Parts: sequence; C-alpha cells; structure tokens
Amino acid sequence: CGIVGYIGYREAWPIVLKGLKRLEYRGYDSAGIALINQSGLKLYKKAGKVQELENFSDGKDKSGTIGMGHTRWATHGEPSDRNSHPHTSNDGKLTIIHNGIIENYATLKEELLSRGHVFNSDTDTEVLIHLVEEIYKKENTDLLEAVRLALHQVSGAYAIVIMDNDHPDQLIAARKGSPMVIGVGAGEYFIASDATPIIEYTKNVIYLNDNEIAFLKRDELLIKRLDNVVQTPYIQELELKLEMLEKGGYEHFMLKEIFEQARSIRDCMRGRIYPNEGRVQLGGIKEYADKLKNIDRIIIVACGTSWHAGLVGEYLIEEYARIPVEVEYASEFRYRNPIITEKDVVIAISQSGETADTMAAIEMAKEKGATIFGVCNVVGSSIPRLTHAGVYTHAGPEIGVASTKAFTAQVTVLTLMAFYMAQQKGTLTQAKLVELLTELDCIPEKITKALESNDLIKEIAHKFKDSRNCLFLGRGSGFPVALEGALKLKEISYIHAEGYPAAEMKHGPIALIDEEMPVVVIATKNSSYEKVISNIQEVKARKGIVLAIVTEGDTEVRKMADYCIEIPDASEAFLPLLATIPLQLLSYHIALLRGCNVDQPRNLAKSVTVE
Ligand code: G6P
Repeated sequence: CGIVGYIGYREAWPIVLKGLKRLEYRGYDSAGIALINQSGLKLYKKAGKVQELENFSDGKDKSGTIGMGHTRWATHGEPSDRNSHPHTSNDGKLTIIHNGIIENYATLKEELLSRGHVFNSDTDTEVLIHLVEEIYKKENTDLLEAVRLALHQVSGAYAIVIMDNDHPDQLIAARKGSPMVIGVGAGEYFIASDATPIIEYTKNVIYLNDNEIAFLKRDELLIKRLDNVVQTPYIQELELKLEMLEKGGYEHFMLKEIFEQARSIRDCMRGRIYPNEGRVQLGGIKEYADKLKNIDRIIIVACGTSWHAGLVGEYLIEEYARIPVEVEYASEFRYRNPIITEKDVVIAISQSGETADTMAAIEMAKEKGATIFGVCNVVGSSIPRLTHAGVYTHAGPEIGVASTKAFTAQVTVLTLMAFYMAQQKGTLTQAKLVELLTELDCIPEKITKALESNDLIKEIAHKFKDSRNCLFLGRGSGFPVALEGALKLKEISYIHAEGYPAAEMKHGPIALIDEEMPVVVIATKNSSYEKVISNIQEVKARKGIVLAIVTEGDTEVRKMADYCIEIPDASEAFLPLLATIPLQLLSYHIALLRGCNVDQPRNLAKSVTVE
C-alpha cells in the first residue's frame, strides 16, 4: 500500500491526490483521502484506482490544509469501498491510514467488540484505530501517548498516519517494518511511503526508523521511539529529480524504462569499472574485500524478478569467482531452519529495498552471524539500512510494476560482484579481466542495438497475442532469462507462461506442445548452442511455434524457427543482459494488443511490504 500525508498552509487535496498517483505502483485496488476543514472531517474512499476516487469526489468539498490518503493492496478484506482506507474510530473523530499488517488483530478485535466497539470494515487497520481511541479516552492522555501505548499492544508491521478531528493542527505518524519518509518544508510537512510524492515540494527528508513515532504540527516536529526516548531527526537531501518520475513522451512507464536500459546499465557501472587496468571497484563492499578471499559459500535471497537476477548471479559468481552459490526464495529460506555460519555471505537482492520476506530473511541470517550484502535500487530504503554493506543498482526510479531496468541493473551489479570477487580471489587473470571489462563497457551500446528490434517484435506480438499459454526455454544463464521472460508475459498480459531449462522440456512440458503452442527459445551462440538446436527440433517435430532469440547473423536456427529476433553477439557472461531486452518488449507489445494495463497489472503491487 502507499500512504501520503500533508500538514501546512497549502490545500492538502491536490498534494495528497497527486502523491497517491505517484504511489499507485504500491497497490491500486482501492483508494481514499481524508481532510479536516472548518466543517470537520471529510472522508472520500472508493474501490478501484486513484482515478475512480478523483471522479467520485468531483464537485465535493475538498478544502483543508491537513489531509492524508491511501492507495491499497488488499490483505485483510476484499477490495471494496468499505474496506478502503482511511478508517475511523468508534466515535468517528480519529482517522487512520495504514500500510502493513497487524498480526494480532483478531484477538484485539474480539476484545474491542466485547467492549461495545462497532466495526465498519473487515480490516486490521480499523482495529488499530479503535484501540488507540480506547486508550486515548481511558488513560486521559494526549494522542501521541495513546498511539505509543497502543503500538505496544500490536504485533506486525505498519506505517501509519493518524489525524484527530479535535486537533486539526497535528498529525501523528509511526513506522515498524513498512517504509515512511517525512518531507520537511517551511511551515509544512509531508509524509509518504517513499520520496516520490514529496520531491516536488522539498528535497529535505527524514527517513523514519522502525519503532519511531513522529508528532507533526505545521511548525513543529517531534520524533520519539516507542520506548519514549526522544530522537534527534536526521535530515537528508534527496538526489531524485522530478523528470525521473514522468513518462517523458513514452506511452507507458514500462516502455520508457525498457528504453532507458542502455543508460541505466551505464549508470550502474559508472566509477566501478576500469577496463584498461582490468579492475573493478565496489566502494560499498570494499571493507569486506579481504573476507571475500576466504568465504565458503554465498547465499542469495530475493523474491520475484530479483530472484531471477540472483540465478544469473549464481551462474556468474560460480563461473568466475569459483565460490559456491545458493539462490533462495526469501520466503522459503526464512521459514526453514537453514544452515548458516559466520563464514557465509548472504546477498539480498531487492529493487524496492522494502520486500518484507527479504527483510525477514536478512534478519535471520544476520542473527546467525552471516555477513549481509544488499543489492537494492531505492536509495535509503529499509534493506540497505539493514545490511552490513552493499551495492546500489542506480537504475533510477522504476514505476512500471513489471520490473525491467531494475532487473538488468541487478544483473549488472551481480556481474560486477562476480568480477570483483574473482579479482580478490585471483581466479581470473589480469588479462582476462581486461578482456571481460572491456566487453562489459560496450554492453550499453549493444543494448541500444537490441532495442532496434522493437518494430519487428511489435509485428511478432500480433501473432502471439491470442495465445493462452507460452513456454520459454533456455540453458545455462539463458534459463533465468527464460524464467524472467515468462514472468513478464504472465504479469502483464495474463497469458499463462512457464520458463523451463530447455533440456527439462522433454520431462514434462513437451506434452503441452501442439500447433498452437508458442515456444520462445533463447538460442544465442554460446556453449549450449548445439544442444538448444536439438531442443528446437524437438518442439518443431511436435508442430510447436518457435520464436528464437538468436545471435546477430545466425543462419542455422533461422532455418528451423518460425520467427527470429537477433541480439548483438557477446560473451556468455553478458548474454542475460542482452537476451532479456527482446523478451521485455515482447510482453509489452502482447499486453498492449490485449488491452491490458501495462503499467499496473491486476492484483500485483510493485513493493510487497507484507509477508
Ligand atoms: C513484487 C513485484 C516484483 C518484484 C518482487 C520483489 O512482487 O511485483 O516485480 O520482483 O516484488 O521485489 P523487490 O523490490 O524486492 O525486488
């Protein structure tokens, strides 16, 4: 979910509304805004996108210089008007927005019901505000203290903002496990789940820490910890630019982000590679350079697309640095009793830096003494603050819910890490490093070249748009690329798609192949080229339709495949970066032809801060 709050001298509605639109990537099944003005509390909420809320509230009283809003990704209770946030207390005076989950809400709710509280929704959030209300009244204390005491009774994760109708000059915010940023203006404050709703108004921000509560008036800010210790706020300056959050002439954020990849990969490598010297420099992990010489094992933890980047990382690190790597879904890893020692390095990969399961996995590994590196895109997010060290991907804000440039930036960072580790361990000669880094330095130009297939891919998309299933095959580092290609297609076009190691096809998926089944094969010229050709023949023998991603100038696959998309030639290490590009474009065009919402696919959220 995404939350926005404002208190100051400007009209709150437009600021909150615009903020919600910027945060819509965090969830978009319902939205709501609450404001206080002379005539009291104004509350508007609606199932659906922020746009529905805007239409619904048209012509209504939206004045007021204090307000807050929420865009939801449902956890407790189906998406509906009544389950949308903000929620109110029993007497309707307190209003809350919440991102996260209150785990013990059922017990709390029962107790509150027995004391006569009446609930208007199925959410855990409403329970929390009723609890605050009860303490507020019973303890005869101020709201800040009531919130603090209430938070002591809840378990789970939250970023909350609370407004009090009787005190329209104050907002209270708190966080534990869900992100929250406070923007500091002159005579005004902004609150949001990330900095994007704030950047237009101020560059000065405070990242609230876990277990902190903020009390905000127009010209006053007090931050306390849950244990009542007052904190000194640390104000940082944002580097984000407003243009980075806009579409810049593209029809969709996803397309813009796909086309940005030559630049984002370049940004990711900037100052980190020295091809002539055959040297990689990673400032973020340099303190651990010596440790890397003697580690037994690396465990990569991540979710979704980031997990796919992890699989490419496994291939690269094992190949070049000769360190054993395990790649784990964060959600599975944390609920097992994994064997972790102080000699292990855990790499947590996360675009948002906020994924709840990945955070929990980090905490567990940290407790067991492992060294944790983060590979994150959002600067200042929670994961980089939890880890011992890390390398930012610097892809810039990714707004399209389906990850594109963040994935290739993650793969780039993992490539750099593999070379860095190889350099520390001496598993690659200087000459080989010079060769590899010189080639890596040219990858952005090759990405630009790969993007030139856009028109061809658009045409091919017409042939595939009505398919109900699709298979993606690859071998070696082409396998994670196939997985990512399948994920992209299902996420945004709702076509069922599966990624498979090409050789595994004969152990099951081959049964699915008939003349209607499209099979996308990563068939570039690398060590498994001949083997992949055999796999293509197996598909053709069963009349499947083959779309092959091939190396420029390829003639052999072209004889067998129904469609071919070329990418520039490159060493095996860099193929995942290049082969991903046409697959991203393919899903984009198919989804577009099917009339799907490319940037905000149904049921998904970009940042999943619940477990
Ligand atoms: C969500 C997003 C995916 C993303 C995954 C992990 O499911 O929709 O695109 O890959 O979370 O997110 P992270 O921010 O940790 O990379």
